[in-house]
Amino acid sequence: MAHLVAPSLLAANFLNLEKDIRMVNESQADWFHVDVMDGHFVPNISFGFSIISQIKSIAGKPLDVHLMISDPDKYIEEFKKSGADHLTVHYETCPHLHRSIHSIKENEMKAGVVINPHNPVSLLSDIVADVDIVLIMSVNPGFGGQRFISSTYRRISELKELLIRKNSNALIEVDGGVDTANAQKLVEAGADILVAGSFVFGSEDPARTIEQLKNF
Ligand code: DX5
Ligand code: ZN
Repeated sequence: MAHLVAPSLLAANFLNLEKDIRMVNESQADWFHVDVMDGHFVPNISFGFSIISQIKSIAGKPLDVHLMISDPDKYIEEFKKSGADHLTVHYETCPHLHRSIHSIKENEMKAGVVINPHNPVSLLSDIVADVDIVLIMSVNPGFGGQRFISSTYRRISELKELLIRKNSNALIEVDGGVDTANAQKLVEAGADILVAGSFVFGSEDPARTIEQLKNF
């Protein structure tokens, strides 16, 4: 499968969000990546349900919602109602991860699990067969514009091996500091989805930047 590109709206212009959403709609991007932060699990607060519903009303591509919040189980139904197509929860926030993943699926969303850079991918060995997406953080979550952590390449390769060993069809997503300098190497290591925020929206021609992340 050709890799997918998911621009992160965290880096979009919130004074003119509609313009950026329409740009993504018309671009070669595959998904919208939507970062929800609560100021508790991560040291930053982003946005919640009402903004996501408004994004959904004009988005022409799936909403890939990345929850960086404590106790995500409480809000699964509400995210579905707001328009999430994929819901990705952090391993670090779910003491009953198997239940959380199945609850996301029962709510008719694709279910994903995320791990922080310090956590070994082997932690996921008994859940990868149940998930649709595994997201590898390539920065510490909480902020856009951070520097890519280079151990990510090895972590993606390890995850790829784990997925094969466990007969999992999960897609591998990578998030944080992605740009054209690392994109190809990430895909070669096994990444299926590249998330990029500041590299896309901070560029002069975001649609062209998406095209560059998509075609190499
Ligand atoms: C970071 C978020 C990312 C962020 C990526 O915690 O999960 O999705 O928007 O931003 P860049 O691409 O600027 O690192
Ligand atoms: Zn994210």
